Amino acid sequence: MTRLITALDFADPAEIRAFAARLDPALTRVKVGNEAFTTAGPALVDDLQASGFDVFLDLKYHDIPNTVANAVARAASLGVWMTNVHAGGGRRMLEAARDAVERVPNGRMAADDGGDRGGMFLIGVTVLTSLERTDLGEVGLDVEPAEQVARLATLVRDTGLDGVVCSPRELPIVRALAPASFLTVTPGIRPRADASNATGEEVKSSGTQADVALGEETPASAPSAPADDQRRTLTPREAILAGADHLVVGRPVTRAADPLAALHALVDEIDAAVFERRHTNAVPRDEAE
Ligand code: C5P
Repeated sequence: MTRLITALDFADPAEIRAFAARLDPALTRVKVGNEAFTTAGPALVDDLQASGFDVFLDLKYHDIPNTVANAVARAASLGVWMTNVHAGGGRRMLEAARDAVERVPNGRMAADDGGDRGGMFLIGVTVLTSLERTDLGEVGLDVEPAEQVARLATLVRDTGLDGVVCSPRELPIVRALAPASFLTVTPGIRPRADASNATGEEVKSSGTQADVALGEETPASAPSAPADDQRRTLTPREAILAGADHLVVGRPVTRAADPLAALHALVDEIDAAVFERRHTNAVPRDEAE
């Protein structure tokens, strides 16, 4: 099954539906975020699922345990493939969310089947990549973001969720503290221009994603596709070799002149990297790939 998740970051639900019609569910899952869901709601999720797509409902729930448990149960009832909660909501909130998923028929979590079982995956958001040390300090957390990521990923692991969303630079931290079955979902992906970004047009920053800066300068080995507002990116190959399970890709697909061709190129690169990872033991993985 595909490891690619296309972020459907369009303001207009009609645009989302029209764009999804140009994609192939065999090549990509789709991510529906707060903006789209607030506008178009469960009907959009239903439509995407009826078209054959697995949906990652990226709503980042964070509230008292009972409220989050009920919301997560509703997400599971919608039949989505994956949803997420803020790990900062604490142990009792995470456990309540996990228990709620397990109570919904077909919503049960089972992290050991490679992602293709019927139930919903529940993953945790650690530290938003928009937050720097000074931001954490301002809300009373006197820690480096990386230290906080490790702490929250450990909590997510210990409370029995399926994995975390993390930036590429956090992959080594997470992989070091969790078993191979613990899922990592990684945004900040940019293919090399010669590999898959034959967009035929300049990819412009939407300027709407203040939350996506992934940290330091783009490294010298950076991919050649436009980074947009992503400040540190990895290629699909680099992310897979660093231990990513699922890659979230937005503009390299949504702004491509030929989105289907962009998907094919991304999937080819991911498949080759998974093969390479398996045969070079780049990271300790024992999942059924
Ligand atoms: O267009 P692009 O590939 O940068 O889109 C990445 C997607 O992943 C967007 O939906 C963005 O909001 C999301 N995301 C991110 N960085 C994070 C968390 C989420 O880019 N740290």
